[in-house]
Amino acid sequence: MDTERLLKILPQKVRPRIEPYAEAIEVLTAVKDPKIIASLGPSSVRGLIFQRGKQGVPTKMQATHSAHFDWSYPSDQPEMRDLYSRAKQGQWNGEDLPWHIDVDPMNPEVPIIPMDFIDFDAFRHRGVKLDETEKRRFLHSMSAWTLSQFLHGEQGALFAAAQVTEAVQFFDGKLYGATQVMDEARHVEVFHRYIDQKLDRLYQINDNLFVIIDALMTDSRWDMKFLGMQIMVEGLALGAFGMLYQMTSEPLLAELLKNVIQDEARHVHYGVLALREHIKNELSDAERREREDWAFEVALLMRNRFMAYEVYDEWFGRTQVTRKEWREVVNLSPGLEAFRHTMFTRLVPNLREIGLLTDRIKPHYDSVGLLKYMGGKSAMDITGDQMISELDTAA
Ligand SMILES: [Fe+2]
Ligand SMILES: [Fe+2]
Repeated sequence: MDTERLLKILPQKVRPRIEPYAEAIEVLTAVKDPKIIASLGPSSVRGLIFQRGKQGVPTKMQATHSAHFDWSYPSDQPEMRDLYSRAKQGQWNGEDLPWHIDVDPMNPEVPIIPMDFIDFDAFRHRGVKLDETEKRRFLHSMSAWTLSQFLHGEQGALFAAAQVTEAVQFFDGKLYGATQVMDEARHVEVFHRYIDQKLDRLYQINDNLFVIIDALMTDSRWDMKFLGMQIMVEGLALGAFGMLYQMTSEPLLAELLKNVIQDEARHVHYGVLALREHIKNELSDAERREREDWAFEVALLMRNRFMAYEVYDEWFGRTQVTRKEWREVVNLSPGLEAFRHTMFTRLVPNLREIGLLTDRIKPHYDSVGLLKYMGGKSAMDITGDQMISELDTAA
């Protein structure tokens, strides 16, 4: 069935209500492996169909993992111990950021995201013309949307880090994990404060982000939580933070992101350390294959589906621009290109390092143009400082 043609002929009043369902079905039917459907399916129904994150009430997610106690307090993970020590040294106080800086999201002299973030001509070709003020308002929406998703992702990271700290079997990992819980709390604090005091607008959680968070919060297997949060979502975060850090002219946000990126670099490093041994030594071939496929599907979801639909609904839901056209415009925008590049530069080498880029799965990555990132530096070989200087040089 050509859903796009069907949607085009629907009355404009009905279309915005039908389109999200059509897309949910598209996402679910694109996945063929029954194990992956079993793992992502229930979360997809809760996120995409019921839109649990958008009901205006708190969401309860049922956790099913076991807390792993060890009464002998083994110290057998020196690299995790070292990360714990570095994390304690690296703590910072969100209150010390330069909050006195006056931020005006509409000021063209100090844009939060630059005008060329999105290709406005592409909208004009589709019959929607925005004047200069509308363009700035639109970019305000996009920046508030982006920062809101960071905040929601950080809430997920805070709870996932707490779960993983309970569930993991490495004792040194538990001590390290406690520092990550603190880091994520600080990230929630600073992103929320920025949105609340400087942007003045909080968007609801994107349905696809909800799906990923729901899937890893409710999976009982600690390594799936790790893979989901410490590798995939942290990779996504580093891509998005890096992109915004490079693009923004707003000094408070740049300083905030610089601090957050340094924490996130440690988080991914921990994820790689913990998963590398586990995947190589503890999993059967079938279990490893499941994780390979899961990581690939989530990578695709992250590449294709974070499309700021909440901004689309607000700006174009009642125009002739369809969600598919919106997706095409957003996909080709310079801002998104930069985001994807930074995200996969960070993510793919980590998947290689933990043993999830086997010869079996490589052709899949190749077919979607992601294999070119394979030879890059994994989190083991790059510190937060180096990440920042790479971003500074590339900017
Ligand atoms: Fe974080
Ligand atoms: Fe993190």
